[in-house]
Amino acid sequence: MTWWKEAVFYQIYPRSFNDSDGDGVGDIQGIVEKVDYIDGLGVDAVWLNPVYESPQVDYGYDVSDYQAIHDEYGTMEDWEELLDALHDRDIRLVMDLVANHTSDEHTWFLRSRDSDEEYEDYYIWREGEETEGEEGVEHVPPNNWESAFGGSAWKYDAGRGEHYLHLFHEKQPDLNWSNPDVRDEVVEVVDWWLEKGVDGFRMDVINLLSKPDDLPDGSPESDWVGSEHFVDGPKIHEYVGELHERAFEPHDAVTVAEMPDLTPDEAERYTDDGVDIVIPFEHMELDRGDAVDWYTTDVDLVELKQVFSRWQEADCWTCLYWSNHDQPRAVSRFGDEEYRVESAKMLATVSFTLRGTPFVYQGEEIGMTNPGFESFDEIRDTGTLERAKTAMADIGIKGFENVRDIVNYWTRDNARTPMQWNSDEGAGFSEEEPWIKLNSDYENVNVEAAREDDGSVLSYYRELVDARHENPVLVYGDYELLLEDHPEVYVYERSLSEGGDEEDAESDRMLVMVNFFDGEPRFSLPDSYDGTLDEVVVSSYGVADEADASTEFELRPYEARVYRVR
Ligand code: GLC
Repeated sequence: MTWWKEAVFYQIYPRSFNDSDGDGVGDIQGIVEKVDYIDGLGVDAVWLNPVYESPQVDYGYDVSDYQAIHDEYGTMEDWEELLDALHDRDIRLVMDLVANHTSDEHTWFLRSRDSDEEYEDYYIWREGEETEGEEGVEHVPPNNWESAFGGSAWKYDAGRGEHYLHLFHEKQPDLNWSNPDVRDEVVEVVDWWLEKGVDGFRMDVINLLSKPDDLPDGSPESDWVGSEHFVDGPKIHEYVGELHERAFEPHDAVTVAEMPDLTPDEAERYTDDGVDIVIPFEHMELDRGDAVDWYTTDVDLVELKQVFSRWQEADCWTCLYWSNHDQPRAVSRFGDEEYRVESAKMLATVSFTLRGTPFVYQGEEIGMTNPGFESFDEIRDTGTLERAKTAMADIGIKGFENVRDIVNYWTRDNARTPMQWNSDEGAGFSEEEPWIKLNSDYENVNVEAAREDDGSVLSYYRELVDARHENPVLVYGDYELLLEDHPEVYVYERSLSEGGDEEDAESDRMLVMVNFFDGEPRFSLPDSYDGTLDEVVVSSYGVADEADASTEFELRPYEARVYRVR
């Protein structure tokens, strides 16, 4: 039994949380002002997206100094104040560790580029071929790997006369983890923060650290060309295990590992390396289509249930989430804006009643939605701009209007619009023009309004947090899927035996049922449930206690209920 299994995490994207100094950008003092709000949610830990010094090309995932605070966000003293304010309220703080790459403005990279002896192997440099093109000499990249944001993963540097690898933006060069000095540096950084009192780290794309020395071409058909070589690469378990042993274990720090393309089998291996919580992607990628039609909105619930069930049974501990700073708003994607409140509650019910640790992304607790972007000028995420540009060039289309729906469906900016605190101009986020546009629904959808309404998404999250804290069965219980082929409802049981295996062992059981769509599906539970449903623990439509409910049910649009089972 461990605190991080029983905890609820709250994720803060500092740029968009609360602006305390009126520059339109969120900051650390802004978070300090809202610590009581966070405490009021009942959460146990905060995961803070990167606040380190950074040129902000990828909003902090391009770190130029791991031991300094980005000036738009404040100072190290502000950060210390935040840590104390959280700790005073028994809330732990988990920072983001971006160790696969740095900014190209980090001194390590500047020296590496200059072939400084000490730093020349800190990054992945290779010579490429040169050919004679129409515009003179062209530098052919060393292999066909692609950046996650589109285009080649290599950039030629004229100064050094070599290409460097960047699996993300060209201003995010990949560190060379096969160099032991690089590993020492990262251990030092982690240790430094843990000494300052941080409780753990969320590790950014941590399964991409190891690249094969010979850098072979990837299959051109792959969604991310080269990924079969750099996802879970040859020495990855050595590196992750070493980090755990040298950096995290001595401080008993929690680790939350973000790992694209993760499978349950690999997750078990990372767990053996010492990773505490894994972040799976599978349930977030079911709606991924081909290049033109990147995503479709229809989720196949039967398939989604299979995915969740596979992860529920794997020997690892997962992060339970529908949203974060990289994903569109969950209500707009998996729920339904017309049933905003109902679908937000339904999704939350699933996150809080599966086995794993629920992560709430800022704004999710008030049911925030995608804002609707009208032009590329409104887009702030470089990842979106790069991917859209590359894909449009490949397909030969131009103009935002031709990609409006697709971009609006998946852009990461959906999650990054300012937190909506009240109905004032600026939504209480800032008194100045915010760095990214506000969702126009803020007059109705905001914290102040939600606080005054017992039926709000916010009130329901409070109930779920309490239910989670009061019922160990929701944390540690076994999971069993019922009605696996039902296309509209997700029904499962959680059960926990107390008192060991003896015959008289008491078993705590809960039954979760949610309607994933806007219909009114009917279904019946197996006969063994006849007369066993006791009290209603949580109910999104506020149903009365139906202790004698039969085994026949009909749920309203997006309805969610959790029963105690006798
Ligand atoms: C992770 C982050 C994302 C970032 C990328 C590169 O996926 O969550 O925001 O762009 O890594 O660091």
